[in-house]
Amino acid sequence: MDLRERRVLVVGANGVLGAGIARALRASGAQVIGTARDAEGAARLDATLDERLLVDLTDDGSISTLATYLASAGRGLDGIVNAAGLVGFGPATTTSASDAALLMRVNHLGPADLITRLLPTLTASATAGHQPFVCGITGIVAERAFPGMAAYVASKSAHAAWLAALRLDVRRAGIRVLNTHPGHTETGLATRAAFGTAPRFAAGMTPEHVVTRIVAAIREDATELASTDFA
Ligand SMILES: NC(=O)c1ccc[n+]([C@@H]2O[C@H](COP(=O)([O-])OP(=O)(O)OC[C@H]3O[C@@H](n4cnc5c(N)ncnc54)[C@H](OP(=O)(O)O)[C@@H]3O)[C@@H](O)[C@H]2O)c1
Repeated sequence: MDLRERRVLVVGANGVLGAGIARALRASGAQVIGTARDAEGAARLDATLDERLLVDLTDDGSISTLATYLASAGRGLDGIVNAAGLVGFGPATTTSASDAALLMRVNHLGPADLITRLLPTLTASATAGHQPFVCGITGIVAERAFPGMAAYVASKSAHAAWLAALRLDVRRAGIRVLNTHPGHTETGLATRAAFGTAPRFAAGMTPEHVVTRIVAAIREDATELASTDFA
């Protein structure tokens, strides 16, 4: 797809991958609306983004406010990239229900709610011939399980399954759903874990490489980017 003049929402645009994706989309001619979780995080949003907004994916009201604003702003929306996410570490045998629920909320239920609320806006984009898309970054953990990260694996796998179902449900409306499965990437995500301590990882990919592959997949109308596609 041609990204020029397309309006794209990047959720988690103050994160490492989100910021890189937002920059690359803008370099391709897109108008980018970037979100942070709160006012403190908003200070890390690129000041040159076309619009800077807030959404906390653990907060129903915050999700509803953002979706209502975007739907009513009258300027349309042609794509959503969800680059927000939270990791936590620990085996299935000891992870508490509340820790597991937090990751399920941030990594699956919150983004699913936001995307669902924005589907009418994406449908209008399709009617206008703008080839709208939804892009997730569920990672290699949604392809296979890894030890010591049960809640993260479960939340990302749930979101990958939901994106696969969404793809079938919105295909006729002309909305493309892309899911991407990068492996470990040197963004420092593991150092910002909500709980637990990260195992030792082998050196990961550079954020620049992962951003380039994801934005290429958006432009090339792909629907899946497997972990092996990042080699
Ligand atoms: N790095 C990897 O190895 C890797 C591999 C595969 C997939 N991924 C996925 O790629 C995505 C980006 O990760 P990253 O590596 O770039 O990490 P990152 O720099 O820590 O970015 C995470 C982003 O998620 C946001 N976020 C966290 N909790 C949130 C909430 N409750 N509501 C809204 N936003 C929230 C953060 O905002 P605040 O900083 O303001 O909290 C930040 O913008 C994540 O979904 C991650 O799971 C990463």
